Amino acid sequence: MPRPKVGIVGAGNVGAAAAFLLTKRNMCDVILSDIVAGLPQGKSLDMNQCRMADHHDATVTGTNRIEDMEDCAVVVITAGVPRKPGMSREQLLEINTNILRDVCEKLKNTHAHPVLIVVTNPLDVMTYAALKITGYPKRRVLGMAGVLDSNRFAHFVAERLRVSPREVQAMVLGSHGDTMVALPRFTTVAGIPIPELLSKEECDALAARTRDGGAEIVALLKTGSAYYAPGSSIAAMVGSILFDQDRVMPCSVLLEGEYGLKDVVVGVPCKLGDGGLKQIIELKLTPDESAALQRSAAVVRENIKLLKL
Ligand code: NAI
Ligand code: 2OP
Repeated sequence: MPRPKVGIVGAGNVGAAAAFLLTKRNMCDVILSDIVAGLPQGKSLDMNQCRMADHHDATVTGTNRIEDMEDCAVVVITAGVPRKPGMSREQLLEINTNILRDVCEKLKNTHAHPVLIVVTNPLDVMTYAALKITGYPKRRVLGMAGVLDSNRFAHFVAERLRVSPREVQAMVLGSHGDTMVALPRFTTVAGIPIPELLSKEECDALAARTRDGGAEIVALLKTGSAYYAPGSSIAAMVGSILFDQDRVMPCSVLLEGEYGLKDVVVGVPCKLGDGGLKQIIELKLTPDESAALQRSAAVVRENIKLLKL
């Protein structure tokens, strides 16, 4: 059986990290595109030259043409610019919406019917924009952030409790921003909810560090933001879709009444498999947890109003 193909738009830090992991694990061939001439070609050549030592066959092909993604089952969009000093969130929103429009329109003009995984920030709003620009059904437009935020929460829990991160299952919902909703009751170590292992103050402190997890890395790196854990989170979503694994992970998707929310994109637990989103899982939230999710969705809704589509 031929290996499936996955497209990655944006050969920057996140796109390249994802391409590297996907091919290193021999999961799929990758078509890596960017507007910068030579960048995706150079990175692809470099990655392909790992294959003898790493014992895998999967290839990365660099291109400047999104049209080359015609037969990709999944396309990951990482193209975008980060916020620069002096730039308002609205300006970033406008620039990245224009990039997303360019990418989505080109994709629509191919004969491809991929599942889209949006990574570009501001994540939930960009996922909403991708839905509207492509007109794809909601099952085929997913935002990646909840997997990353849950990975971060799991790391902090494992480190604090000195347990293997493999024993931790973490759950972070809501938007990928200051109002994200880390859920200690649904975060477990070998099935034990962490409120049974840590005080409320400790759970809150780990949740706060998770919320600020992206900024903590930006402050250390000084240029650019995180890309290894984002790349690994993308690979987890791609794997569940390509191999119909039915894994449950928090993703940003369009809500149509679930959690009492409508016409907004926000992170909720999703079953991912062949064709993308198979099911949104509704957790029984406490009034406080539910209010936090509503607040988070309200912030996304405010930013959606700024979109010029
Ligand atoms: P980067 O700056 O390293 O790479 C972005 C790439 O996009 C650049 O190579 C640029 O040339 C390319 N690009 C710009 N316009 C394009 C277009 N029209 N077509 C094709 N390529 C285009 O940035 P990085 O670190 O890879 O981050 C990418 C995006 O992902 C940013 O918006 C960042 O904020 C976001 N991000 C989101 C995360 C999440 O959890 N959702 C996690 C980490 C990053
Ligand atoms: C992160 O959380 C920048 O959204 C990116 O690392």
